[in-house]
Amino acid sequence: MTQPIDLAALPGDFTWGVATSAYQIEGAVAEDGRSPSIWDTFSRTPGAIDHGDTGDVACDHYHRWPGDVALMKELGVTSYRFSVAWPRIVPGGDGAVNRRGLDFYSRLVDALLDAGIAPNVTLYHWDLPQTLQDRGGWPARDTAAHFAAYASVVAGALGDRVGQWATLNEPLCSAWIGHLEGRMAPGITDLAAAVRASYHLLLGHGLAAQAVRAAAPGARVGIVNNLSTVEPATASDADLAAARRMDGHTNRWWLDPVHGRGFPADMLETYGVDLPERPGDLATIAQPLDWLGLNYYFPAVVADDPAGPPPHARQIRRPDVPRTGMDWEVDAGGLEELLMRLTREYGARTIHVTENGSAYPDTVGPGGAVDDAERVRYLEEHLAACARAVRRGAPLAGYYAWSLLDNFEWAYGYDKRFGLVHVDYATQRRTVKSSGRRYADLIRDHGLLTGGAVPRRPHLPGTTTRATCEPSHPAP
Ligand code: FCB
Repeated sequence: MTQPIDLAALPGDFTWGVATSAYQIEGAVAEDGRSPSIWDTFSRTPGAIDHGDTGDVACDHYHRWPGDVALMKELGVTSYRFSVAWPRIVPGGDGAVNRRGLDFYSRLVDALLDAGIAPNVTLYHWDLPQTLQDRGGWPARDTAAHFAAYASVVAGALGDRVGQWATLNEPLCSAWIGHLEGRMAPGITDLAAAVRASYHLLLGHGLAAQAVRAAAPGARVGIVNNLSTVEPATASDADLAAARRMDGHTNRWWLDPVHGRGFPADMLETYGVDLPERPGDLATIAQPLDWLGLNYYFPAVVADDPAGPPPHARQIRRPDVPRTGMDWEVDAGGLEELLMRLTREYGARTIHVTENGSAYPDTVGPGGAVDDAERVRYLEEHLAACARAVRRGAPLAGYYAWSLLDNFEWAYGYDKRFGLVHVDYATQRRTVKSSGRRYADLIRDHGLLTGGAVPRRPHLPGTTTRATCEPSHPAP
């Protein structure tokens, strides 16, 4: 049974997107001059990835992209969020540019525009060139400068055709999961390294935002964060304080600096690590933003955990709540709440939900059909939450379903499927799931409702309206 969604609440030019990232779909890891990234290294570390999976082939998108663009056109999406692989563009991390890498993305962008699909480019979705890791990685300040140089190259090559840019995807995962918990590349467990990495990621964001704007005037630049609502497990003072720390760790540490508020003082105390700050850095980090990207998957319910690593707060598994195949709690209300928080507390002027989706153990029926009723429901509930937030005043301009395709889900390998489109990894055959069909129907229905039934022109650089161009900074 389909669920009601107040589609009329969403603006006529609402962006209906799908999202992917380079390492998760491209494969072709040694082709056309690409160098290894930290994920090539990490996925070869014994025990790091379920079943020993790697991104070597993934969805073979590097060769099958024309078919994948055709699939997106068939679904009717109006934008595609993908990431550019730094090791394809600057294989040495800094220095020489690899033309063949740029050509791949240039062809992809042209095909998208021909299909009436606006490209939304993320410059860093976790695949640092291994050679830069060998020189210190994100805990080293130079990496931020190298990132800006690489961003300038990509914006110079694609900026005439790409209007929307994100610097970083989920720096929280790079810093905290990659350097503190060690469950993602580069697999480090060191608080000081993690704090330094978080600082240089945000510095890199600011420098890259400047570089993209210099190379591609008219570019609309944002950052993509994964945020969670945070609730205390009980009403005890200890759990309330733990929830406050987890909110700092997950949300405020990433939002406050880019909004010109500096790093949260309570978290500096919790971490007890000096920032590698130099004069002018905070202003660089706080570049005006054209839009904010929100990736939303699950809420956090936390209890005090004095013996655990910072933020000394432990996630609680609430019983009797719906969960996805990732064991993530399903709570669409959390998405609405976060959209309102970005609007009210951070004065956001334009927000895109840049990722939202669910993994379930799909079963392939007769004839290859995948009837993923749970994913359909998840999609509907979260879109309904988006519509409610818009009614309440959130400046939500778009939604990107994670993901177009089943793909390499990092430490979980290929076991977890998030796609609207099923991928048979043995044959690379793509099959649109029921959720993909439902998404296509919603896009069409919204178009009919708002008079946008005619395919919309992609939003090109230089055609930005005043409203979307204003920085998302709150008034001082
Ligand atoms: C996000 C990542 C994305 C994907 C989804 C499920 O944290 O940005 O690459 O793995 O989770």
